[in-house]
Amino acid sequence: RQPRGLVIAIDGPSGAGKSTIARLLAKRLGYLQIDTGAMYRAAAVLIKRAGLDLADGDAVARFCADLCVRLETDGGVQRVFANGQDVTDQIRTHEVSHLTSRVSALRPVRDALLSAQREMGRQGGVVLEGRDIGTVVFPDADLKFFLSATPEVRGKRRYDELIARGETTTLQETVAAVVQRDEQDSRRDIAPLRRAEDAIDVDSSDMGIDEVVACMEAFVRQKYVCG
Ligand code: DC
Repeated sequence: RQPRGLVIAIDGPSGAGKSTIARLLAKRLGYLQIDTGAMYRAAAVLIKRAGLDLADGDAVARFCADLCVRLETDGGVQRVFANGQDVTDQIRTHEVSHLTSRVSALRPVRDALLSAQREMGRQGGVVLEGRDIGTVVFPDADLKFFLSATPEVRGKRRYDELIARGETTTLQETVAAVVQRDEQDSRRDIAPLRRAEDAIDVDSSDMGIDEVVACMEAFVRQKYVCG
């Protein structure tokens, strides 16, 4: 038995499979999964509801001073709360994805969520997934993975998810949206999507979910043995 659980970071572009893989890996290890994208999405839902103008720096700062985003796991399902409201069912739409990419580029939003993320992961035994976990949130994480896949594969996965939820869109539109969001996430000034230098690359284009999880789990077990 380990004296404490590890801090495991999984970063990568949208649609690479981070959420599913982080959930399954966390389950196998008995760890807590922290979906930081869901936290940014929850902030975006509140911003949308409040009709906040993202260009109004003062209003954004005031909003962030009171912002509290929490993750809770209920019967294996992760739920996200923003200022006490359960917004889980609203965070995965096309519109919220687009808004989240803009919202997550704002310094006050990132600062507010960064401290919450560090606090949640502090004691270890966590799998955190996002864009800046290995570079900013936990630069000293015990293990870092950079999970990627081709834009076509990632777009197709997002498309299947959206269709399953009853949204109307085309594959072409979804691939284009995924590529645009990645560019936006990679080009921003603060905490851009970037591979940490010491991250292990995992390309999931031609791998099944179970295969990716097994591969990551093998690295974790090795870390337990070799330190
Ligand atoms: O992983 P996701 O698709 O749920 O993330 C939603 C958005 O949030 C995405 O545009 C990038 C942003 N994000 C971020 O900037 N930093 C993180 N740690 C996680 C997500």
